Amino acid sequence: MILGLSFSHNATACLLDGQGQAVFCASEERFTRRKNDWGIPHLVLDELLAHHVRPGQVQAVAVGEGCMAAYGSRKFADFLYLGNLASRDHTLRSPLRTAALLAREVCGRTFRPRSEYQRLVIDALKKRGIIAPVRFFDHHTAHAASAFHCSPFEDALVVTLDGEGDGLSGSVWHASGSRLELVQKLDEIRSLGKFYRSITALLGLTVNRHEGKVTGLAAYGDADRYRETMRGLLHPEPDAEGLLTVRSRIAEHHMKRFNLRRVRLGGLAAHLGMYWRSRSWEGLLNRMIAAQARSIFAGALEGDPASLSFEEKADIAAAAQAVLEEVVVEYMGFHLERAPSRKLALAGGVFANVKLNQRVLERTEAEAIYIHPGMGDEGLAMGAAKLAYHETPGAKRSVLRSVHLGPAYREADIERACDHHQMRYTRLADEALAERIADALVNEEIVGLFRGRMEYGPRALGHRTILVNPAKREINDVVNKRLGRSEYMPFAPVVLDDAYEEIFEGPKLSGARFTTAFMTITLDVKPAWAKRIEGVVHVDGTARPQVIEREDDPFYYAILSKFRERTGIGCVVNTSFNLHEEPIVNRPEDAIRSFQSGAIDRLVMENLWVEPRDRAPLREPAGAVEVIRQAPVGQPTPR
Ligand SMILES: [Fe+2]
Repeated sequence: MILGLSFSHNATACLLDGQGQAVFCASEERFTRRKNDWGIPHLVLDELLAHHVRPGQVQAVAVGEGCMAAYGSRKFADFLYLGNLASRDHTLRSPLRTAALLAREVCGRTFRPRSEYQRLVIDALKKRGIIAPVRFFDHHTAHAASAFHCSPFEDALVVTLDGEGDGLSGSVWHASGSRLELVQKLDEIRSLGKFYRSITALLGLTVNRHEGKVTGLAAYGDADRYRETMRGLLHPEPDAEGLLTVRSRIAEHHMKRFNLRRVRLGGLAAHLGMYWRSRSWEGLLNRMIAAQARSIFAGALEGDPASLSFEEKADIAAAAQAVLEEVVVEYMGFHLERAPSRKLALAGGVFANVKLNQRVLERTEAEAIYIHPGMGDEGLAMGAAKLAYHETPGAKRSVLRSVHLGPAYREADIERACDHHQMRYTRLADEALAERIADALVNEEIVGLFRGRMEYGPRALGHRTILVNPAKREINDVVNKRLGRSEYMPFAPVVLDDAYEEIFEGPKLSGARFTTAFMTITLDVKPAWAKRIEGVVHVDGTARPQVIEREDDPFYYAILSKFRERTGIGCVVNTSFNLHEEPIVNRPEDAIRSFQSGAIDRLVMENLWVEPRDRAPLREPAGAVEVIRQAPVGQPTPR
């Protein structure tokens, strides 16, 4: 078995079996309950070693980062790369601890490149009894492998784009069989991810987390107002070899400002001030990027960058989104013309932008598109593991068909959690349960569904999901309020496969079908349908569907089928089961806590219909068992 790991934001561990098929994958954030948590995924490794693999069964470890660019001592590398967010905040909250950490680096050991980082990883694995050889793969090679080796394509043009990783912000590959042939690298200084991240910060949103809100906001704005400003900051240009590349002035500015070897006294004082106000890793990062964005845009905007109106924010977002789309479409078009394949396999945080992905498919010569479902840095663990697997003789391609790769919980665990939290529960057979859920949706109730193995990647796709009736636009306000969220994009629909072409339109619907299982692309909704499912259609007439087939998940499919029998609508709102700014729920307790907070009306966990003890009990259908006290039979997914 091959263990894949990643440590940068959204640290993740993945396990491949002897055939190269992913059998487990989960991110540390779901266990620590800190969104995009960093460092060694200790709690995921605990889960893996407790329930899925013994240390001696791990034949190889693959890390999706070079882990070579660490500056400073072992302790500093530990803080900066392998410590999770809680441990970083613990250091930053104390000026004394922070000063001691920095002083140790400045006094003698200063910012010299070392390889301590790799040694730290190897030692941490040895402590857990994992002594298999550890391979460190380049960040963008791992992204590329996650895209191509998980895709259904035998050949493809592979493109990776993100903020930065191992000194690069992107790469282009020609892929076929088990081979990935590098065509072009994009240095960090050409980063498109840093461009979009700065816009996020400029709009007062949280970087590495709220980029999707910028995409949603863009649909409300006038792109022309700031288009030229944005084109000045991001545009295509030829490189020395005549290949098209990208100029990103924001990335250039960023690298000048954050170069540790050229620290200026004035800049240091400004950063100390930000540190004093933040005292948390994410807070500090946000303040630094926001300050930089405001200084870049000062003078270019009509309003004060620190206090923008909704209209100005929407216009900025619209221009940034439009220019990102134009640049990526031109860049992809150039490389597609020279590629032996018309299929696109994509990964990297820039492709979390669902609207961009639609534009890329529609406005280039691409025939088909696949975006790896864990397109951000969580995908590096699987990408690295795939790279290691494809180095073994006789390796065969294996498509990633499902993201349900995380932990599952037995009904006994769920019952214990219910008892502890004063909940009653009634077990229903699948058929009766699907009927109940469909009825609740028709009655416009918000249903939390917790069932089977947790999803890998940023989207909830049926196992840690909230379902809602999609008919009315107002449900977005209602549900956002209940969940404590603020979104500019409406909720996404889960759609029955036979309703796909009935609801959506466009010249390349079949080309999008390879990625619609994972909710990674927007599509145009037919105008007649847009009126029937207003709750999931954006102001630009698009929606970002998860399209399901019966064999993907018969129970999930049954809920939608029964909802269609009652309403004639073959889709339902599917949004992630989490409260404001929290990661998607993982354990039964996380789901019950959301229920108790009033976020949802109904909670279904495995086959249990869960209710507060003080609520009138469910009128049970024939065959249902009311309030079960004995430990039930376990669920099919082993723990
Ligand atoms: Fe990345």
